[in-house]
Amino acid sequence: MEIIHLSEINSTNDYAKELAKEGKRNFVVLADKQNNGKGRWGRVWYSDEGGLYFSMVLDSKIYNPKVINLLVPICIIEVLKNYVDKELGIKFPNDIMVKVNNNYKKLGGILTELIDDYMVIGIGINVNNKIRDEIREIAISLKEITGKEIDKVEILSNFLKIFENYLEKLKNKEIDDYEILKKYKKYSITIGKQVKILLSNNEVVTGKVYDIDFDGVVLGTEEGIEKIPSGICIHVR
Ligand code: BTN
Repeated sequence: MEIIHLSEINSTNDYAKELAKEGKRNFVVLADKQNNGKGRWGRVWYSDEGGLYFSMVLDSKIYNPKVINLLVPICIIEVLKNYVDKELGIKFPNDIMVKVNNNYKKLGGILTELIDDYMVIGIGINVNNKIRDEIREIAISLKEITGKEIDKVEILSNFLKIFENYLEKLKNKEIDDYEILKKYKKYSITIGKQVKILLSNNEVVTGKVYDIDFDGVVLGTEEGIEKIPSGICIHVR
């Protein structure tokens, strides 16, 4: 995939969207810092120098967004495994977490936007950036974990190698969607947990996660089994 490397931008997702509107597909926008980095559900994504911030644009007529949404965190974990000797996992739907001192902290996040016939997949990974005080309790960087600076462009190129290899195999039907789901579930740290999920209408549902599939979590609540497509997930125990 072609990589467009900018020194700074408001948000790589927004910039990628502008190019996608003109018909461009299969490319990556990489920025050294973002001045208005966006997280899921309208939250901010602190994007200070040193972190890895990029967005990819794919044709959603060729690739199923529901499968891509599961595949992207798998590929991030497969790359980061080579840099970190701690347990890595995916918190529903797609937070990249690392276990330090018996606590999971967030290493990276993914913001997918589905527009017309394309999807913009924005990925932020805390590599060498300093974690701001406001989020120190819940977030961590690779540098903090390993004690050394890590080449973020090398992480991106390793990620693209693995991701494009999976895309090729999906296209050629060498692997099927269910193998991707199986891998996702292997890395999931949410299955089996008691959770609270904040929905887009500000409602909160509480229950135990029995399973995850292409359409979200299967939650056992007091009212019975519910299917929750997405939301902000908090692990209770
Ligand atoms: C989240 O966990 O809330 C998702 C964070 C996604 C951040 C990335 S950084 C690159 C891309 N551009 C953005 O503005 N956001 C995504």
